[in-house]
Amino acid sequence: METERANSALTASEIFDLVREDLELVEKAIDVESLASVETVTTIGRYLQQSGGKRLRPALLLLCARFADGGSKTRNPKAAVQLGAVVEMIHAATLVHDDVIDMARTRRGRPSTNVQWGNHTCVLAGDWLYMQAFQVALRERNFHVLDLLIGLTQLMVEGELIQLDRIGQIAITEADCMELVDRKTACLFSACAKLGAVAGGVDAQFEEKLGEFAWNLGMAFQLIDDMLDFTSREQTLGKPVGGDLKEGKVTLPLVYALESATPAERALVEKVLEARNYDAVPFAEILALVDRHSGIQRTRERAQQFTDHARQIVAEFPDNPYQRALFTLTDLVTARDR
Ligand code: IPE
Ligand code: IPE
Ligand code: MG
Ligand code: MG
Ligand code: MG
Repeated sequence: METERANSALTASEIFDLVREDLELVEKAIDVESLASVETVTTIGRYLQQSGGKRLRPALLLLCARFADGGSKTRNPKAAVQLGAVVEMIHAATLVHDDVIDMARTRRGRPSTNVQWGNHTCVLAGDWLYMQAFQVALRERNFHVLDLLIGLTQLMVEGELIQLDRIGQIAITEADCMELVDRKTACLFSACAKLGAVAGGVDAQFEEKLGEFAWNLGMAFQLIDDMLDFTSREQTLGKPVGGDLKEGKVTLPLVYALESATPAERALVEKVLEARNYDAVPFAEILALVDRHSGIQRTRERAQQFTDHARQIVAEFPDNPYQRALFTLTDLVTARDR
Protein backbone atom coordinates (compact mmCIF):
# COMPACT_ATOMS: atom_id res chain seq x y z
CA MET A 1 0.00 0.00 0.00
CA GLU A 2 2.79 2.34 1.01
CA THR A 3 4.73 1.62 -2.14
CA GLU A 4 1.66 2.06 -4.28
CA ARG A 5 1.05 5.45 -2.67
CA ALA A 6 4.69 6.41 -3.04
CA ASN A 7 4.66 5.75 -6.77
CA SER A 8 1.30 7.28 -7.56
CA ALA A 9 0.92 10.62 -9.26
CA LEU A 10 0.03 13.67 -7.22
CA THR A 11 -2.99 15.88 -7.79
CA ALA A 12 -2.73 19.64 -8.19
CA SER A 13 -3.86 20.33 -4.65
CA GLU A 14 -1.42 17.72 -3.30
CA ILE A 15 1.40 19.55 -5.06
CA PHE A 16 0.42 22.83 -3.49
CA ASP A 17 -0.12 21.07 -0.13
CA LEU A 18 3.57 20.14 -0.11
CA VAL A 19 4.51 23.80 0.02
CA ARG A 20 1.27 25.24 1.43
CA GLU A 21 2.81 26.61 4.65
CA ASP A 22 5.69 28.22 2.81
CA LEU A 23 3.29 29.71 0.25
CA GLU A 24 1.33 31.30 3.08
CA LEU A 25 4.59 32.78 4.37
CA VAL A 26 5.30 34.07 0.88
CA GLU A 27 1.92 35.87 0.91
CA LYS A 28 2.76 37.41 4.28
CA ALA A 29 6.15 38.53 2.99
CA ILE A 30 4.55 40.12 -0.09
CA ASP A 31 2.08 41.86 2.19
CA VAL A 32 4.83 43.32 4.36
CA GLU A 33 7.03 44.28 1.42
CA SER A 34 4.26 45.96 -0.59
CA LEU A 35 3.97 48.85 1.80
CA ALA A 36 5.09 52.02 0.00
CA SER A 37 5.12 55.55 1.34
CA VAL A 38 2.80 56.56 -1.49
CA GLU A 39 -0.61 55.02 -0.92
CA THR A 40 -1.51 54.40 -4.57
CA VAL A 41 1.49 52.12 -5.02
CA THR A 42 0.49 50.04 -1.99
CA THR A 43 -3.10 49.92 -3.24
CA ILE A 44 -2.08 48.72 -6.71
CA GLY A 45 0.15 46.00 -5.25
CA ARG A 46 -2.59 44.80 -2.93
CA TYR A 47 -5.23 44.98 -5.67
CA LEU A 48 -3.23 42.55 -7.78
CA GLN A 49 -2.27 40.32 -4.88
CA GLN A 50 -5.86 40.01 -3.70
CA SER A 51 -7.33 39.33 -7.13
CA GLY A 52 -5.90 35.82 -7.26
CA GLY A 53 -3.30 34.40 -9.60
CA LYS A 54 -1.98 30.88 -9.64
CA ARG A 55 1.22 31.59 -7.66
CA LEU A 56 2.95 29.17 -9.97
CA ARG A 57 6.34 30.86 -9.83
CA PRO A 58 6.77 30.88 -6.03
CA ALA A 59 5.33 27.33 -5.91
CA LEU A 60 7.92 26.21 -8.45
CA LEU A 61 10.71 27.92 -6.51
CA LEU A 62 9.61 26.39 -3.20
CA LEU A 63 9.25 22.90 -4.67
CA CYS A 64 12.71 23.14 -6.22
CA ALA A 65 14.16 24.38 -2.91
CA ARG A 66 12.59 21.47 -1.03
CA PHE A 67 13.64 19.00 -3.67
CA ALA A 68 17.17 20.39 -3.80
CA ASP A 69 17.86 20.36 -0.09
CA GLY A 70 16.77 16.75 0.42
CA GLY A 71 16.40 17.47 4.14
CA SER A 72 20.06 18.42 4.40
CA LYS A 73 21.58 21.05 6.66
CA THR A 74 22.42 23.32 3.76
CA ARG A 75 18.74 24.21 3.59
CA ASN A 76 17.76 27.80 4.16
CA PRO A 77 13.94 27.84 4.36
CA LYS A 78 13.79 31.55 5.09
CA ALA A 79 15.68 32.30 1.89
CA ALA A 80 13.25 30.18 -0.14
CA VAL A 81 10.26 32.08 1.25
CA GLN A 82 11.88 35.48 0.68
CA LEU A 83 12.89 34.56 -2.84
CA GLY A 84 9.39 33.19 -3.46
CA ALA A 85 8.05 36.64 -2.60
CA VAL A 86 10.69 38.20 -4.89
CA VAL A 87 9.63 36.21 -7.97
CA GLU A 88 5.91 36.81 -7.40
CA MET A 89 6.56 40.55 -6.96
CA ILE A 90 8.60 40.61 -10.17
CA HIS A 91 5.79 38.74 -11.91
CA ALA A 92 3.24 41.25 -10.56
CA ALA A 93 5.39 44.17 -11.75
CA THR A 94 5.64 42.68 -15.24
CA LEU A 95 1.84 42.22 -15.30
CA VAL A 96 1.30 45.87 -14.38
CA HIS A 97 3.64 46.94 -17.19
CA ASP A 98 2.36 44.28 -19.61
CA ASP A 99 -1.23 45.46 -19.31
CA VAL A 100 -0.13 49.02 -20.11
CA ILE A 101 1.81 47.84 -23.18
CA ASP A 102 -0.97 45.48 -24.31
CA MET A 103 -3.75 47.96 -23.47
CA ALA A 104 -5.55 45.13 -21.66
CA ARG A 105 -8.92 45.66 -20.01
CA THR A 106 -9.02 42.77 -17.57
CA ARG A 107 -6.61 40.76 -15.46
CA ARG A 108 -7.36 38.01 -12.94
CA GLY A 109 -11.08 38.53 -13.53
CA ARG A 110 -11.07 42.23 -12.65
CA PRO A 111 -10.45 45.49 -14.48
CA SER A 112 -6.68 45.60 -15.08
CA THR A 113 -4.54 48.08 -13.14
CA ASN A 114 -4.05 50.33 -16.20
CA VAL A 115 -7.84 50.64 -16.46
CA GLN A 116 -8.19 51.45 -12.76
CA TRP A 117 -5.24 53.81 -12.29
CA GLY A 118 -4.13 54.84 -15.79
CA ASN A 119 -0.88 54.24 -17.65
CA HIS A 120 1.26 56.89 -16.02
CA THR A 121 0.66 55.69 -12.49
CA CYS A 122 1.03 52.04 -13.53
CA VAL A 123 4.42 52.53 -15.16
CA LEU A 124 5.72 54.07 -11.95
CA ALA A 125 3.99 51.60 -9.64
CA GLY A 126 5.46 48.74 -11.71
CA ASP A 127 8.92 50.29 -11.33
CA TRP A 128 8.43 50.57 -7.58
CA LEU A 129 7.31 46.94 -7.28
CA TYR A 130 10.28 45.85 -9.37
CA MET A 131 12.75 47.71 -7.22
CA GLN A 132 11.12 46.47 -4.03
CA ALA A 133 11.58 42.92 -5.26
CA PHE A 134 15.27 43.66 -5.79
CA GLN A 135 15.48 45.25 -2.35
CA VAL A 136 14.20 42.01 -0.80
CA ALA A 137 16.56 39.94 -2.95
CA LEU A 138 19.48 42.14 -1.90
CA ARG A 139 18.97 41.05 1.71
CA GLU A 140 20.24 37.60 0.76
CA ARG A 141 23.67 39.19 0.27
CA ASN A 142 24.25 36.80 -2.59
CA PHE A 143 25.67 38.14 -5.87
CA HIS A 144 24.57 35.05 -7.75
CA VAL A 145 20.94 35.75 -6.81
CA LEU A 146 21.24 39.33 -8.07
CA ASP A 147 23.02 38.16 -11.18
CA LEU A 148 20.14 35.80 -12.01
CA LEU A 149 17.49 38.46 -11.40
CA ILE A 150 19.23 41.21 -13.35
CA GLY A 151 19.96 38.95 -16.32
CA LEU A 152 16.38 37.76 -16.33
CA THR A 153 14.91 41.26 -16.19
CA GLN A 154 17.03 42.43 -19.10
CA LEU A 155 16.01 39.40 -21.19
CA MET A 156 12.34 40.06 -20.45
CA VAL A 157 12.51 43.77 -21.23
CA GLU A 158 14.42 43.10 -24.46
CA GLY A 159 11.74 40.52 -25.32
CA GLU A 160 8.98 43.09 -24.90
CA LEU A 161 10.95 45.54 -27.07
CA ILE A 162 11.46 42.95 -29.81
CA GLN A 163 7.73 42.21 -29.66
CA LEU A 164 6.92 45.91 -30.04
CA ASP A 165 9.17 46.03 -33.06
CA ARG A 166 7.18 43.25 -34.73
CA ILE A 167 3.74 44.67 -34.03
CA GLY A 168 1.47 44.51 -37.06
CA GLN A 169 3.80 42.22 -39.03
CA ILE A 170 2.37 39.08 -40.59
CA ALA A 171 5.69 37.58 -41.72
CA ILE A 172 6.56 36.07 -38.34
CA THR A 173 8.38 32.73 -38.15
CA GLU A 174 8.24 29.88 -35.67
CA ALA A 175 11.75 30.83 -34.51
CA ASP A 176 10.61 34.44 -33.90
CA CYS A 177 7.80 33.14 -31.69
CA MET A 178 10.08 30.82 -29.76
CA GLU A 179 12.51 33.63 -29.02
CA LEU A 180 9.71 35.69 -27.46
CA VAL A 181 8.27 32.76 -25.54
CA ASP A 182 11.73 32.15 -24.08
CA ARG A 183 12.29 35.77 -23.10
CA LYS A 184 8.78 36.52 -21.90
CA THR A 185 8.23 33.51 -19.69
CA ALA A 186 10.69 30.59 -19.86
CA CYS A 187 13.60 32.62 -18.51
CA LEU A 188 11.58 33.62 -15.40
CA PHE A 189 10.54 30.01 -14.81
CA SER A 190 14.17 28.95 -15.14
CA ALA A 191 15.29 31.63 -12.68
CA CYS A 192 12.63 30.47 -10.18
CA ALA A 193 14.04 26.94 -10.22
CA LYS A 194 17.62 28.19 -9.97
CA LEU A 195 16.77 30.45 -7.04
CA GLY A 196 15.10 27.45 -5.39
CA ALA A 197 18.31 25.51 -5.96
CA VAL A 198 20.31 28.33 -4.35
CA ALA A 199 18.03 28.29 -1.29
CA GLY A 200 18.30 24.50 -1.21
CA GLY A 201 22.08 24.80 -1.15
CA VAL A 202 22.97 22.55 -4.08
CA ASP A 203 25.91 22.70 -6.49
CA ALA A 204 25.99 24.59 -9.79
CA GLN A 205 25.45 21.46 -11.87
CA PHE A 206 22.23 20.54 -10.07
CA GLU A 207 21.11 24.17 -10.27
CA GLU A 208 21.61 24.08 -14.05
CA LYS A 209 19.54 20.89 -14.36
CA LEU A 210 16.67 22.35 -12.35
CA GLY A 211 16.90 25.51 -14.45
CA GLU A 212 16.71 23.49 -17.65
CA PHE A 213 13.67 21.61 -16.37
CA ALA A 214 11.86 24.84 -15.51
CA TRP A 215 12.87 26.52 -18.77
CA ASN A 216 11.10 23.77 -20.71
CA LEU A 217 8.11 24.07 -18.41
CA GLY A 218 8.01 27.82 -19.01
CA MET A 219 8.19 27.39 -22.80
CA ALA A 220 5.17 25.07 -22.62
CA PHE A 221 3.39 27.46 -20.27
CA GLN A 222 3.68 30.48 -22.60
CA LEU A 223 2.77 28.42 -25.69
CA ILE A 224 -0.39 27.30 -23.90
CA ASP A 225 -1.03 30.94 -22.93
CA ASP A 226 -0.77 31.90 -26.61
CA MET A 227 -3.12 29.03 -27.50
CA LEU A 228 -5.64 29.95 -24.78
CA ASP A 229 -5.71 33.46 -26.21
CA PHE A 230 -7.55 31.78 -29.12
CA THR A 231 -9.45 28.93 -27.52
CA SER A 232 -10.50 30.08 -24.05
CA ARG A 233 -13.17 32.44 -22.74
CA GLU A 234 -12.58 35.65 -20.84
CA GLN A 235 -14.72 34.33 -17.98
CA THR A 236 -12.41 31.36 -17.48
CA LEU A 237 -9.13 33.08 -18.27
CA GLY A 238 -9.82 36.26 -16.30
CA LYS A 239 -8.19 38.29 -19.10
CA PRO A 240 -9.14 39.17 -22.68
CA VAL A 241 -9.38 36.48 -25.36
CA GLY A 242 -8.35 37.24 -28.93
CA GLY A 243 -6.21 40.05 -27.58
CA ASP A 244 -2.89 39.07 -29.15
CA LEU A 245 -3.94 39.52 -32.79
CA LYS A 246 -5.97 42.60 -31.92
CA GLU A 247 -2.80 44.06 -30.41
CA GLY A 248 -0.99 43.32 -33.68
CA LYS A 249 0.80 40.21 -32.39
CA VAL A 250 1.10 37.12 -34.53
CA THR A 251 1.71 34.19 -32.16
CA LEU A 252 2.50 30.54 -32.87
CA PRO A 253 -1.05 29.18 -33.51
CA LEU A 254 -1.47 31.78 -36.23
CA VAL A 255 2.04 31.31 -37.63
CA TYR A 256 1.29 27.61 -38.13
CA ALA A 257 -2.12 28.33 -39.67
CA LEU A 258 -0.69 30.91 -42.07
CA GLU A 259 1.70 28.29 -43.46
CA SER A 260 -1.21 26.64 -45.28
CA ALA A 261 -3.80 29.44 -45.36
CA THR A 262 -5.22 30.59 -48.72
CA PRO A 263 -4.51 34.16 -49.94
CA ALA A 264 -8.11 35.08 -49.01
CA GLU A 265 -7.65 33.77 -45.47
CA ARG A 266 -4.34 35.58 -45.16
CA ALA A 267 -6.09 38.78 -46.19
CA LEU A 268 -8.55 38.34 -43.30
CA VAL A 269 -5.67 38.17 -40.82
CA GLU A 270 -4.08 41.23 -42.41
CA LYS A 271 -7.35 43.10 -42.05
CA VAL A 272 -7.42 42.54 -38.28
CA LEU A 273 -3.73 43.39 -37.97
CA GLU A 274 -4.41 46.67 -39.70
CA ALA A 275 -7.70 47.58 -38.04
CA ARG A 276 -6.68 46.33 -34.57
CA ASN A 277 -10.25 45.22 -33.95
CA TYR A 278 -12.69 42.49 -34.95
CA ASP A 279 -15.31 44.84 -36.45
CA ALA A 280 -14.88 43.73 -40.07
CA VAL A 281 -13.58 40.22 -39.41
CA PRO A 282 -15.16 38.57 -36.35
CA PHE A 283 -12.85 36.77 -33.94
CA ALA A 284 -14.83 33.52 -34.50
CA GLU A 285 -13.77 33.59 -38.13
CA ILE A 286 -10.10 33.92 -37.21
CA LEU A 287 -10.41 31.14 -34.65
CA ALA A 288 -12.05 28.86 -37.21
CA LEU A 289 -9.26 29.62 -39.66
CA VAL A 290 -6.54 28.88 -37.12
CA ASP A 291 -8.26 25.66 -36.12
CA ARG A 292 -8.89 24.57 -39.73
CA HIS A 293 -5.19 24.86 -40.51
CA SER A 294 -4.18 22.91 -37.36
CA GLY A 295 -2.70 25.96 -35.64
CA ILE A 296 -4.22 25.00 -32.30
CA GLN A 297 -3.31 21.33 -32.55
CA ARG A 298 0.26 21.98 -33.65
CA THR A 299 0.83 24.54 -30.88
CA ARG A 300 -0.48 22.05 -28.34
CA GLU A 301 1.89 19.41 -29.72
CA ARG A 302 4.82 21.81 -29.62
CA ALA A 303 4.01 22.66 -25.99
CA GLN A 304 3.80 18.94 -25.27
CA GLN A 305 7.31 18.46 -26.67
CA PHE A 306 8.63 20.96 -24.14
CA THR A 307 6.77 19.29 -21.26
CA ASP A 308 8.05 15.89 -22.43
CA HIS A 309 11.57 17.26 -22.29
CA ALA A 310 10.94 18.69 -18.81
CA ARG A 311 9.64 15.28 -17.71
CA GLN A 312 12.72 13.52 -19.07
CA ILE A 313 14.90 15.77 -16.95
CA VAL A 314 12.86 15.17 -13.78
CA ALA A 315 12.75 11.43 -14.44
CA GLU A 316 16.52 11.35 -13.92
CA PHE A 317 16.19 12.93 -10.48
CA PRO A 318 15.96 10.74 -7.36
CA ASP A 319 12.40 9.73 -6.50
CA ASN A 320 10.74 11.57 -3.59
CA PRO A 321 7.47 13.49 -3.11
CA TYR A 322 9.03 16.70 -4.45
CA GLN A 323 10.38 15.01 -7.52
CA ARG A 324 6.89 13.63 -8.17
CA ALA A 325 5.40 17.06 -7.60
CA LEU A 326 7.69 18.55 -10.24
CA PHE A 327 6.66 15.74 -12.55
CA THR A 328 2.95 16.43 -12.03
CA LEU A 329 3.48 20.15 -12.49
CA THR A 330 4.31 19.46 -16.13
CA ASP A 331 0.83 17.90 -16.64
CA LEU A 332 -0.89 20.86 -15.05
CA VAL A 333 0.82 23.29 -17.38
CA THR A 334 -0.32 21.62 -20.59
CA ALA A 335 -3.77 20.62 -19.34
CA ARG A 336 -4.67 24.00 -17.83
CA ASP A 337 -7.55 26.15 -19.00
CA ARG A 338 -6.55 29.38 -17.26
C1 IPE B 1 0.50 35.46 -16.95
O1 IPE B 1 1.01 34.52 -16.09
C2 IPE B 1 1.60 35.95 -17.84
C3 IPE B 1 2.17 34.89 -18.67
C4 IPE B 1 3.40 34.53 -18.57
C5 IPE B 1 1.36 34.22 -19.66
P1 IPE B 1 0.09 33.58 -15.20
O2 IPE B 1 -0.87 32.85 -16.09
O3 IPE B 1 0.92 32.76 -14.30
O4 IPE B 1 -0.74 34.64 -14.36
P2 IPE B 1 -1.37 34.58 -12.90
O5 IPE B 1 -0.29 34.97 -11.95
O6 IPE B 1 -1.86 33.18 -12.65
O7 IPE B 1 -2.48 35.58 -12.94
C1 IPE C 1 3.28 37.34 -20.91
O1 IPE C 1 2.90 38.09 -21.96
C2 IPE C 1 4.63 37.72 -20.40
C3 IPE C 1 4.69 38.85 -19.48
C4 IPE C 1 3.70 39.28 -18.72
C5 IPE C 1 5.99 39.50 -19.40
P1 IPE C 1 1.38 38.18 -22.38
O2 IPE C 1 1.09 39.54 -22.84
O3 IPE C 1 1.01 37.03 -23.28
O4 IPE C 1 0.66 37.94 -20.97
P2 IPE C 1 -0.88 37.97 -20.73
O5 IPE C 1 -1.50 37.04 -21.74
O6 IPE C 1 -1.33 39.38 -20.91
O7 IPE C 1 -1.02 37.47 -19.33
MG1 MG D 1 -0.57 40.83 -22.10
MG1 MG E 1 2.25 41.14 -23.42
MG1 MG F 1 -0.91 36.10 -23.36
